[in-house]
Amino acid sequence: MPVTVLVVDDERNIQLTLSRALSMEGYAVETASGGREALEKISARPVDVVVMDVRMPDLDGLSVLQQARETRPDLPVVIMSGHGSIETVRSAFKLGAFDYLEKPITEKEKLLVAVKNALALQSLRAENAALRREAGLSEMVGGGPAMQRLFDLVRRAAPSEGRVLVTGENGTGKELVARAIHENSRRKDGPFVKLNCAAVPADLIESELFGHERGAFTGAVAARKGKFELADGGTLFLDEVGDMPAAMQAKVLRVLQEGEFERVGGGQTLKCDVRVVAATNKDLQAEVQAGRFREDLYYRLNVVPIHAPPLRERKEDVPELSTRFLAEACERNGRRPMRLARDAVLALQAHGWPGNVRELRNLVERLAILCDGPEISADDVATVLPDARKPRADRFRAGASFHELVDEAEREIILGALDAHGDNVSDTARTLGLERSHLYKKMRGLGIKRGTGE
Ligand SMILES: Nc1ncnc2c1ncn2[C@@H]1O[C@H](COP(=O)(O)OP(=O)(O)OP(=O)(O)O)[C@@H](O)[C@H]1O
Ligand SMILES: [Mg+2]
Repeated sequence: MPVTVLVVDDERNIQLTLSRALSMEGYAVETASGGREALEKISARPVDVVVMDVRMPDLDGLSVLQQARETRPDLPVVIMSGHGSIETVRSAFKLGAFDYLEKPITEKEKLLVAVKNALALQSLRAENAALRREAGLSEMVGGGPAMQRLFDLVRRAAPSEGRVLVTGENGTGKELVARAIHENSRRKDGPFVKLNCAAVPADLIESELFGHERGAFTGAVAARKGKFELADGGTLFLDEVGDMPAAMQAKVLRVLQEGEFERVGGGQTLKCDVRVVAATNKDLQAEVQAGRFREDLYYRLNVVPIHAPPLRERKEDVPELSTRFLAEACERNGRRPMRLARDAVLALQAHGWPGNVRELRNLVERLAILCDGPEISADDVATVLPDARKPRADRFRAGASFHELVDEAEREIILGALDAHGDNVSDTARTLGLERSHLYKKMRGLGIKRGTGE
């Protein structure tokens, strides 16, 4: 199919000259003599590029540009004007114009180059989007080499039926990887079911995995399907698999070996067709050596290992991630779009990110809420970074008692650790080497009302 260029100008002879130049290069050309006609053609015909005048009697080029964005956000538009004030040019680019040409267009070469570049950009964008859609990776950001290697692995592993074990620290995107594998597998139209292995109460393990019949035990007022049955035809995501209690390990192993199970209190043997993807932030091999994880189960789960690298090892992705998170946070919180100053990005890149991408995401959201101007500065970043230390003399307030100062220090440490773990209390407790119950008590004592427990 030939590439179609829409030429929009209210002057007939300009329409003609431009059309002729473009046709001679092999483009199919459509014309419109005003803004309204242009909008109609953009929505009704297969237009690939638009070359458009700014000043037109019925609807000016900038308004057309703005409205066209709504239906065709990716359509490249080249704007032309004979009386282009800086303001017009600036507005055009702000509205997403691809290029700007000064009228009269005496050298047709300029026109042709602008159109050719617009098309090149367009196809690059489409190719990128298709690749990502195909791999179900549209949600994942990461142009750096480490993430590209990860995307590559996901693309290879996903279409197979092989079990995948995703490893990586907290907040590195293990769950996103698991979802991407499902979305790019033959099972994508089937269910994706998640089970947090660390959070199943000991007496409900069997029921959670395999379901139960009505009356199977006290409290089983109705029959209920287990996760394996729910995931039939799709993917079962075993999250925090390294924290799976021993009793559960034995049961999971059996169903993986035999492909069948019974509901609690049910006599019938059920078959299921489930692909298992597991994730953990623990070193499973070490868990096996320590006798906490069954070796036979480990080998069954770890057919294709995929490691999600920590953010500190791929800091080249920090600018892209923070820009995306900032845009999302502004939208979610009903704020006008903001940007990060260059040195603010550098400050973010300098941080160690113990809580990885989740920590970055939370921090950027906090910046979006707390900062006023359209631009976030390095100073703004310094005020919210958990390890941005205040000078000691500042922290010592005259008049405060020793106990008050200790409380303040404790509060700062706990809030910092909560930040790093996206408010997850179990992970925070683990990092700080505290019992979860002890941490809860401390938080209550210090009046910290944050944290999600699992
Ligand atoms: N590459 C990425 N691009 C965009 N967002 C990401 C990326 N990686 C992680 N995130 C975001 O970071 C957060 C944490 O990701 P996710 O829940 O997948 O991590 P996890 O490895 O499962 O963490 P945990 O071990 O704590 O459960 C989510 O909000 C996720 O959307
Ligand atoms: Mg997770």
